[in-house]
Amino acid sequence: MKPVKVGICGLGTVGGGTFNVLKRNAEEIARRAGRGIEVAQIATRHPNAKCDTGATPITADIFDVVNNPEIDIVVELIGGYTLAKELVLKAIENGKHVVTANKALIAVHGNEIFAKAREKGVIVAFEASVAGGIPVIKAIREGLAGNRINWLAGIINGTGNFILTEMREKGRTFEDVLKEAQALGYAEADPTFDVEGIDAAHKLTILASIAFGIPLQFDKAYTEGIARLTTTDVNYAEALGYRIKHLGVARRTDAGIELRVHPTLIPADRLIANVNGVMNAVMVNGDAVGSTLYYGAGAGMEPTASAVVADLVDVTRALTTDPNNRVPHLAFQPDSLSDHPILPISACESAYYLRIQAKDHPGVLAQVASILSERGINIESIMQKEAEEQDGLVPVILVTHRVVEQRIDDAIAALEKLDDVADKVVRIRVEQLN
Ligand code: HSE
Repeated sequence: MKPVKVGICGLGTVGGGTFNVLKRNAEEIARRAGRGIEVAQIATRHPNAKCDTGATPITADIFDVVNNPEIDIVVELIGGYTLAKELVLKAIENGKHVVTANKALIAVHGNEIFAKAREKGVIVAFEASVAGGIPVIKAIREGLAGNRINWLAGIINGTGNFILTEMREKGRTFEDVLKEAQALGYAEADPTFDVEGIDAAHKLTILASIAFGIPLQFDKAYTEGIARLTTTDVNYAEALGYRIKHLGVARRTDAGIELRVHPTLIPADRLIANVNGVMNAVMVNGDAVGSTLYYGAGAGMEPTASAVVADLVDVTRALTTDPNNRVPHLAFQPDSLSDHPILPISACESAYYLRIQAKDHPGVLAQVASILSERGINIESIMQKEAEEQDGLVPVILVTHRVVEQRIDDAIAALEKLDDVADKVVRIRVEQLN
């Protein structure tokens, strides 16, 4: 059988990795796919020193690839929202299948792109958009298809995890570690996407859709970054038996779906609490299977290429299947998506770590306890440290039981009004993940 012809748009870290893996493993890939997968054209403005493209035709114009009648599958690896969207829609318009690693594109414009793809009977595959080389989309969409998914929680930004790990283990500064992540090719073009949780929220939006069968709703995700985390809280969390991770959490409740990215205390003995460096991990809890954990490299040249190439194999295998009988883009049949709402963060439920900087006066702790109890907030553990020398303030650290966020908001507002409480109260969510 004739090989499938692929056009790669973008020859950066992932594009270069994809070319290299396709070339190196060509024989093995053909044995899996049932025919060869050949790169017929590459669009790039800059050569990639880590990639010997040999005689493969190269163009500087990405639209040459989508307009090339020879090409069956367009691989979009340019990133960003605007040009990538134009490129993908044009490819679909021209009847080409698309493989993309672009989480921002899928999270923000995926509903429109999939509708167009259905109209044209083409596949849009996006395994590489979440957690790099970990086949977590396939696991949820296909491997867990018999389950009602209850919740999922993941470390889905390698740069953020790398920064937190280096800060905790080596005491390095935030800026220093971020620079290294950029040099290693892990960080986004705009690294605020990594540290402010936007990249993780893109990925969480995609995971939630395929887990719960809801449309993509990135604009409703709650996003809080890691830039304001201090080593003080990292150390107190450790003393209480927790580790702080930047977690994306999606949970189904009767009232709606929680969709939130924020720093989170996790019991230190959970496997996911020990996922360090640039590695990613996603826990998925289904009613039949219980909790499952997927772990691996969440970014980088060949790990991400591994997912792109797997999608190419999938598309190649599915080329001859009836478009109405392929695996649906968002795992559920498009006319069966649910309108279960995404909850605002104030309606989400979690346990909380609070750090209160209090004046060293009798009765302060009693006032704190009564503010919490008046709002039905149950304290799980409490720790009071000695007054700090420089300001004489006493750090009071407590962990609550699970409660709706609105009550914690009210309690924090009341605590911050007390004369004996100085500074803002630090609040970090806690998840037991059991
Ligand atoms: N910037 C992303 C990360 C790249 O650090 O995880 C992979 O999506």
